[in-house]
Amino acid sequence: MRRHLIVGNWKMHKTAAEAAAYVRRLAGLVRQSAKVEIVLAPPFTALSVAALPAARRFAFAGQDLHWEDAGAYTGEISAPMLKALGCRYVILGHSERRRLFGDDDAAINRKVLAALRHGLRPILCIGESLGERRRGQTTRVVLRQLQNGLRGISKVAGRHIAIAYEPVWAIGTGQAAAPEQIDSVHRTIRSCFARKWGRRAADRLRILYGGSVKPDNIIDFLGTAEIDGALVGSACLNPRSFARIISQTQSARQ
Ligand code: PGA
Repeated sequence: MRRHLIVGNWKMHKTAAEAAAYVRRLAGLVRQSAKVEIVLAPPFTALSVAALPAARRFAFAGQDLHWEDAGAYTGEISAPMLKALGCRYVILGHSERRRLFGDDDAAINRKVLAALRHGLRPILCIGESLGERRRGQTTRVVLRQLQNGLRGISKVAGRHIAIAYEPVWAIGTGQAAAPEQIDSVHRTIRSCFARKWGRRAADRLRILYGGSVKPDNIIDFLGTAEIDGALVGSACLNPRSFARIISQTQSARQ
């Protein structure tokens, strides 16, 4: 049985002091459960909260990284730096990175490889735009992003990857995808893994959904066996709302 993963992507929100207050508050609101892994992805400048005693029940993720370990890359952060701060995961290929910062499939692939080289688990984000969905290109786009993102990765390393399916049109719009739409894309992703690395690898893969996940709709997504958790943006910024998403996931039928 795959353990559910709930990831809070804070994007460019909260100072280090605000992050510390958030972590303490959230720790007081959620109960421990082996069924669900809770991951927080604060901005780089607030990742030091991972060392707080209140942060013990959470795992941490970077929101991006640079593929080199060190060097003359002004403004960038490397995998060893994230690892040293206690990160277990890193979000890669988020649509905002792809759209606003020029991350293409090749760059994302280098980042995935760098993360794995340093023992960080990539959460690889893929998803189609509204235009691509309307033109019937969803499967093609998602498979292209997936195959290019996973290029050169061994089957053994592939075990450490999670995929987040995030249709671009559902992110930050309040218009989440329907469970049937998600289910169908998740099956496509899992079949791709099965063809690449075999049935067992595919069965082990966690595929998250992201895009306007809220306390009021999380339960709709967890009803399908194909969805192994969520990547949450706006609704994670308030600890009460994120805690509600977590508790509903904990009590969902597995
Ligand atoms: P949203 O963002 O929950 O605000 O739609 C999701 C994401 O960008 O990962």
